[in-house]
Amino acid sequence: MEFMTTAEIREKYLSYFEGKGCKRMPSSSLIPDDPSLLLTSAGMVQFKPYFLQQKQLEEPYVGTTTVQKCVRTNDIDIIGTTGRHLSFFEMLGNFSFGRYFKKEMCAWAYDFSVNVLGLPAERLYFTVFEDDDETIEIWKDLGVPEEHISRLGEDDNFWRAGPTGPCGPCSEIYFDQGPEFGCGSPDCAPGCDCDRFLEYWNCVFTQYDGQEDGTLLPLPKKNIDTGMGLERMAAIMQGVQSNYDTDVLRSLVGVGERLSGKAYGDDPEADLALRIIADHSRAVTFMIADGILPSNEGRGYVLRRLLRRAIMKAHLIGIEGPFLNEYVDEIVRLMGDVYPEIVENRELERKLILSEEDRFGATLRQGQSFLEEALANLEGDVLAGEEAFTLHDTYGFPVEVTREIAEARGVTVDMEGFERSMAAQRERARAAGAKDAEAAWSTYGGVYADLLKELGPTRFVGYEATSAEARVAALVRDGERVESLAAGETGEVVLDVTPFYAEMGGEVGDTGLMDNGEGHVYVLDTKAPEKGLTVHSVRCEDAPLAVGDAVVARVDAQRRAAIERNHTATHILHAALRQVLGEHVKQAGSYVGPDRLRFDFTHFEALTPEQIAEVERVANLRIMEAVPTTIYETSLDEARADGVTALFGEKYGETVRVVAAGEFSRELCGGCHVGNTAEIGFAKITSESSVGANLRRIEAVTSYGALAYVNKVEAELKDAATALRVAPFDVAERAAANVKALKELQQKGKRAQGAIGGDAVAGLLAQVQEASAGYPVIIARTEVSDGGQMRNLWDVVRSRMERPGALVAAAVAGGKPVLMAAGSDEAVAAGFNAGAVIKAMGPAIQGGGGGKPSMAQAGGKNAEGIDDALQIARDLIL
Ligand code: ALA
Repeated sequence: MEFMTTAEIREKYLSYFEGKGCKRMPSSSLIPDDPSLLLTSAGMVQFKPYFLQQKQLEEPYVGTTTVQKCVRTNDIDIIGTTGRHLSFFEMLGNFSFGRYFKKEMCAWAYDFSVNVLGLPAERLYFTVFEDDDETIEIWKDLGVPEEHISRLGEDDNFWRAGPTGPCGPCSEIYFDQGPEFGCGSPDCAPGCDCDRFLEYWNCVFTQYDGQEDGTLLPLPKKNIDTGMGLERMAAIMQGVQSNYDTDVLRSLVGVGERLSGKAYGDDPEADLALRIIADHSRAVTFMIADGILPSNEGRGYVLRRLLRRAIMKAHLIGIEGPFLNEYVDEIVRLMGDVYPEIVENRELERKLILSEEDRFGATLRQGQSFLEEALANLEGDVLAGEEAFTLHDTYGFPVEVTREIAEARGVTVDMEGFERSMAAQRERARAAGAKDAEAAWSTYGGVYADLLKELGPTRFVGYEATSAEARVAALVRDGERVESLAAGETGEVVLDVTPFYAEMGGEVGDTGLMDNGEGHVYVLDTKAPEKGLTVHSVRCEDAPLAVGDAVVARVDAQRRAAIERNHTATHILHAALRQVLGEHVKQAGSYVGPDRLRFDFTHFEALTPEQIAEVERVANLRIMEAVPTTIYETSLDEARADGVTALFGEKYGETVRVVAAGEFSRELCGGCHVGNTAEIGFAKITSESSVGANLRRIEAVTSYGALAYVNKVEAELKDAATALRVAPFDVAERAAANVKALKELQQKGKRAQGAIGGDAVAGLLAQVQEASAGYPVIIARTEVSDGGQMRNLWDVVRSRMERPGALVAAAVAGGKPVLMAAGSDEAVAAGFNAGAVIKAMGPAIQGGGGGKPSMAQAGGKNAEGIDDALQIARDLIL
């Protein structure tokens, strides 16, 4: 065998199958166009519609061939422990949708293996599905000796992408790495878990469509779906035992060696970490390039988990601080020519990873001490599920990381308990979530799909005109097809032709009127519940509407113009944000209405007021340059080559529509736009906020909306100026001065409240009498806010009495009577007993209390009894 690089194998495979008549197609995104799958995990994923005959491959191709980027994390625990499991890998594939089948496929696979790659035939082994005699015969006819063919069951040789969809029996080809790699067992054979027989090519005979209930419906045609692991083949062709020793991955292991100072091969623990980081860093880079952002759910969580696992592993081998960007740079260098998306999104990859590293670094230490403590306090050898959940929820520890650390100490994690906590959290989140506003449209289920099938896509003429003559093609009321809508009724209308733009790509749907000659029908909203089918939500005002009616459909042109201004402004702001903040800024969502626009984008910190001002300045500069917008159609490849901004993570067909505002902004977009940027007039950012870990949002207004905004701000300013009695531009200064003065006053007030009003003290001192026992005493009513203040009162009064004496006071605080008696040592020595006085007074206020001879207090219910209580004290003391 001749040494081959990964790049050579990739190219040899693709050109071989091209030579057989297969169309070479690009890898699809890691975000599958398929709700049943979280991530693209095989080459066949993008071809599901072809297997199901929903799409046809053009003649004269016999099939397709691709190198597909794939992510699989179902066996994340064993990644790194073997040489052949990877979370990210490249799959070489060729696919037939009824045009070639087993015979051709087997012959080509054999030919490619033996004659193109030069694998020695005697080292190849073949497995087939249990009863697939036909394939056995095919292999034998190609010269494979019978003892190199074996039958395997459903687990090994029946392939499915997921629980449902295209699937079928398969035949796998193995390369015998030699007995020295084997487990030594006499039963060792292809399918064994050891490293001797390396499965490198899976040929699936895709004949069935798996249903929800498990039944297998035959597909209309017999298909082929194959997958060859590129990294595995590279290991074979490079004469190494492990994928991590092949050219690409070995370079990445090298990055880790350099950063950690550990040599690969010296220490099994460090080797494991070096392999895991090399693997995960590729998955992470490619996932971000395809529009996946770290989050706590779905594929965002898979990404975060891989990122965090790589960070933890790096930590274990002494790599400190942010390091993953070193890997990103190497991955871009090694793979950027085949996957330009990782080059295009490099800034985003770098910044996003850095931001996650920062975020995680801080919690890592806290989480580790939490876990250490939990493990130290553990009784028995099972860590509670809730603890693992806290680590996940509060500290962002992926549960398998918790498991790894725990297991290294001989502790298992209660996974059922963990799942229960997770389920409870999901339930809380669901209950808290807002009701889906789209629900009303989606509950109508099949009606729209049927309408699309029957009528075909609606012809849209709204780019050129805001009114059109049309015919009513169908009517729907409460989810049912109807023949007519009566005056006063609401429902939905499908026309053959429409100028109404259906809500899409953030732009709201048009509103307006339909006129059938008898009266008006108001169009309240326009949507496309099925791609291509425009549905107008209407209210018949003063006449009925029937299927077949000729109508003039008229969009509210003023509203549409406002939407167009906001839409073009959104593009300009997008470009301005990229110019001011950097290329990592990607659109993550938008809303374009007639009154305002909203734009969500990837960025990692709040914009400073200066940055906002700069974005506004740049955007308005472009607006005032008054450049005409140009809109044209081109191929996706050409648009990409021209550097047109494609929306992150968005799927596009082969033909795309480009909206350009000069050289400054060029985006793929299906929306409605102004003819010249000057129409926007003026754009003003009204707010900037966070909408998630790595996402920011700006809101803005343009043209009349901006005017209304400025007027509103000005009116507020004038009102404030009037209230403050200053000129409008002195408002800030005066307001600041007033706030300062108010604060001072408040502080003074507080101090005054804490102290006792001088008047109260003076009032009491004026009431000194002589007790019969010969000491000065004050027995009086006073005013306090609570019992505490009553005690303060005594402190002040005692210090100001001419001779040491006593005080018996009563007050109503918060509607309740309070009493206090207090005496100096001298008064107590002369016989004053505060506790006894209070005890005697208590009943008069329906209360009670007590204390020492020197100080006692009481509270009660009857405020009316205060005077009686004081009288009792007088009777006792005077
Ligand atoms: N789709 C098949 C696999 O992934 C080829 O193994």
